[in-house]
Amino acid sequence: MLNIFTITDLFFFVGTQSIQYFEQITKANKKYLSQLFIRSKSHKVKTEKVETCSDDLSVKTLINSLKKQVEPPNAQDLKSQNIIVEFSSPNIAKPFHVGHLRSTIIGNYVANINNFFKNNVTRINYLGDWGTQFGFVQLGLSLAKIPKETIEKDPINSLYQAYVHANKLTEEDPTIADEARKLFSKLENGDEQTVAEWEAFRKYTINELQNTYQRINVKFDAYEWESSYGISKISNVLSQIESLNILTLDDKNRKVIHLNEKKAVPIIKSDGSSLYITRDIAAAIDRHQKYNFDAMYYVVDNAQRDHFKNLMSILHSMKLPWADKLKHINFGKIKGMSTRKGTAVFLQDILDETKCVMRKQQLEARNTKVNLDIDHPSTEVLGISAVIVNDLKHKRNQDYEFDWNTALDIKGDTGVMMQYAHCRLVSLEENSGAIIASECDPSFLKEPEAQNLILHINKFEGAIARSYRELEPCLLVHYLFQLSHSISRAFKVLRIKGEPADVANQRLLLMHVARRVLGQGMRLLGIQPLDKM
Ligand code: ARG
Repeated sequence: MLNIFTITDLFFFVGTQSIQYFEQITKANKKYLSQLFIRSKSHKVKTEKVETCSDDLSVKTLINSLKKQVEPPNAQDLKSQNIIVEFSSPNIAKPFHVGHLRSTIIGNYVANINNFFKNNVTRINYLGDWGTQFGFVQLGLSLAKIPKETIEKDPINSLYQAYVHANKLTEEDPTIADEARKLFSKLENGDEQTVAEWEAFRKYTINELQNTYQRINVKFDAYEWESSYGISKISNVLSQIESLNILTLDDKNRKVIHLNEKKAVPIIKSDGSSLYITRDIAAAIDRHQKYNFDAMYYVVDNAQRDHFKNLMSILHSMKLPWADKLKHINFGKIKGMSTRKGTAVFLQDILDETKCVMRKQQLEARNTKVNLDIDHPSTEVLGISAVIVNDLKHKRNQDYEFDWNTALDIKGDTGVMMQYAHCRLVSLEENSGAIIASECDPSFLKEPEAQNLILHINKFEGAIARSYRELEPCLLVHYLFQLSHSISRAFKVLRIKGEPADVANQRLLLMHVARRVLGQGMRLLGIQPLDKM
């Protein structure tokens, strides 16, 4: 594979008499120097912009190979690994909050990039459907007298309203919480009616979730339920832990595992029921048996860092040899994302809001060069692209402030801008009248804008490899921003229509390759590249 070394800026500070000498060096080194600046005392700045990538042979090989397929670096040497990516994982009775949205967007990217690098990926959505919260929901539904039909029509919202209602009542009357606990205990003990109701809630919610995932084009290989690891189903895991003699009783009568002198993690409550971490221990063991993974990624926000640290330490203390194959892919908060409906953000509402703001932006852009059809079905895809790119452009760990207008800006560095670049390239291929050259001839691609575009195309390999290594999507996003800028510069100068066939076909080949790289990058981010907007 190609590995082209590029110095982007090089400054020589010299006297006037040496200018000519350095100009000669500049020319002799055009191959290696992308920009060479010569500064002297009397000539303030003399710049020779030499946007070049490497020798013609490398350019030819690069463009020819990308014309066929955009492959990961050293594709033939890659050894396929078994990777589990657990992401999204909302809770059934609570809203799908923005943390779940980030998990969905980042997790989808982590799965995509692992796939691209030829790994065998299993995408798991681990739904929270167990715990005292269900007692609150069930109690809230009856206390708030929410009719069955309303639940059926708008399940996520109804369950959430019920949960909020019961929690509010608890503030005034703490015995409500005991009621809720009792209800959950009924569920754990398999009370028929309670179980039937809870199963119905799960069904409604999963249907609605699936619609939403379809809207954002995210797929899972498996939906797992936290309830599958409730206390009655994990006796083998519990006896495994018991046999290791690592459990003790604490002063609240809970069974705890001591991780060190200061830290003891409860895994069985005093009433014998399981905790969130207990279910995670059992789920990890079960997944290891099922999938024999080489790595398992949990894409969950920073707030659960301690939880995952504890989980891994417990698996270590259980002497499970695969414990260090688990990795918490953590991420920061999105601040300030709310819709007109309020701050309890449901994914559906975010998507509706996105569509709405997108339309507004499109209307405002009507009188500019960017000509958009506001009623085009692509509006939804555009809005989603914007939300995804706006999220992935930040370093994973960083919190960020959400602003609808920045996210959807047609002219700034956004998903909309990427889509716009992609659409222009598609339209060029369809309407330029030229034919994509079958073989690259770099002698026709000498303009600085062509060289600059080749240079950026060539950086794809490095960007993607780093992004994969660090599981840091922002590295790919920023690369794609740069690429889109190079494409737009090339558009201004490299005319195709009306040019001699040799020139036109070579330029179209370059633009075609740029589109393939941009499109591949966008798909990895989880965006469907548009042909028209
Ligand atoms: N349902 C959990 C929540 O919303 C996230 C689950 C994360 N995954 C896990 N294996 N614990 O907080």
